[in-house]
Amino acid sequence: QSKLRARSDMEVFVGIFVHSTEDNPLIIMPGMVMGVLNTKIEFMESLEELDHLKAEYGFTDSNIHYMTPSQFMMPGMIDTHIHASQFPNNGVAMDLPLLEWLQTYTFPTEANFSDTLFAREVYSKVVERLLRNGTTTAAYFGTIHLEGSKILADVVHDKGQRALIGKVNMMRNCPEYYREMSVQESIRDTEEFIRYVRSIQSPLVQPIVTPRFAPTCPEDQLASLGQLAAKYGCHIQSHLCETQPECNWVKELFPWAKSYTDVYDSMRLLSEKSVMAHCIWLTDDEIYTLRERGVGISHCPNSNVSIRSGLCDIRRLLNSGLKVGLGTDCSGGYCPSILDSMRQSLQVSNILALDRDQDYQRITYKEAFRMATLGGAKVLNMEDRIGNFEIDKEFDALLIDVSAPGSAIDIFSKDTVEDKVQKFIYTGDDRNIARVYVAGHRILDLHNKNLH
Ligand code: GUN
Ligand code: FE
Repeated sequence: QSKLRARSDMEVFVGIFVHSTEDNPLIIMPGMVMGVLNTKIEFMESLEELDHLKAEYGFTDSNIHYMTPSQFMMPGMIDTHIHASQFPNNGVAMDLPLLEWLQTYTFPTEANFSDTLFAREVYSKVVERLLRNGTTTAAYFGTIHLEGSKILADVVHDKGQRALIGKVNMMRNCPEYYREMSVQESIRDTEEFIRYVRSIQSPLVQPIVTPRFAPTCPEDQLASLGQLAAKYGCHIQSHLCETQPECNWVKELFPWAKSYTDVYDSMRLLSEKSVMAHCIWLTDDEIYTLRERGVGISHCPNSNVSIRSGLCDIRRLLNSGLKVGLGTDCSGGYCPSILDSMRQSLQVSNILALDRDQDYQRITYKEAFRMATLGGAKVLNMEDRIGNFEIDKEFDALLIDVSAPGSAIDIFSKDTVEDKVQKFIYTGDDRNIARVYVAGHRILDLHNKNLH
């Protein structure tokens, strides 16, 4: 009886489902019925099985949501690298290259987050914007501030997004007014931050240890952060090999290291729970080390072009067996949408192909879709829980409507389902994201124009 009552809470979706697997970057499944119980996907079967599923699971027509012919469901998108604290600069201040950009625009902006009211104002907008744009999971950088970073965790938790939240660590080569004052303080605050985020006891929100990048972190700080991450079994995120001047600088700052990657590796910062953003300028040896350690790569093509860091050869990284996901890297990138990140990854790959051999394999739109979903899940070491529509995974999903009111997508009568999916990837936007689900909860419903 109790089993039956629980099962009548099941939500059932009927229509087209689109996702990726290890073997296939884009699988389109029309005429399917999916059952979601509590947070997880309980079954996914052909529509022919509907009557038998009703009998088995005890749900009725009132539990079923029928998609229209212009709708499909896809996994929630995953932003593997975004600076929540840089949102005020989205769409401005892109005239300088990375190192000058940091000193001139970024550090002053992040310093404002000592103001907790401002932090709440900005972070609320960030999380709402990302959810509207279909980002169900994000790996966030906050700032060095303990209180502000706690607020980011609270806001994400309140709004129901899945996320890794990082309090930034940095104490040199940055302004007096925006740096941690000692390794001791850095570790104490970071440990308190980890404990705080864990105390929320959310299955969705976790802390991530966040040394900004090697130039702002002396050896003893990096080593202590590596120990802290190991002590708490935390994820780790940072930047790696983003620009050539940065790589040269790291050589000067760490003359003993074999490479930039070796700096992090020597400090025990590289594991299957580590996410490294950019990775444009890696040597083959560095790729080998990252692969050995199981590190995930966050590809941020908008940022890499906007502040002219370089064109990352994702084919080379994928061929080396590295896990690759997409990031927006706001505000190095100007657009807080993983749809944009997919498009930019395709444009960058096309541009690289222009002066390569004929047989250079450009990234396909299907691969971009996989990087945005399953690839991101792998990068964040969450592929056992999210990333596609396998049974027993958490239901993080988007209901896409390619004919939504005001939509920028032009659909014609001869379009196939695959055309509709491809048109969404290239020309869709938040107007086409009708509903957003995280862990089985409907977080956003465009029809009701509000966030739940
Ligand atoms: N390297 C160190 N800090 C940053 C940052 O805030 N943005 C980007 N894109 N690269 C960095
Ligand atoms: Fe970044």
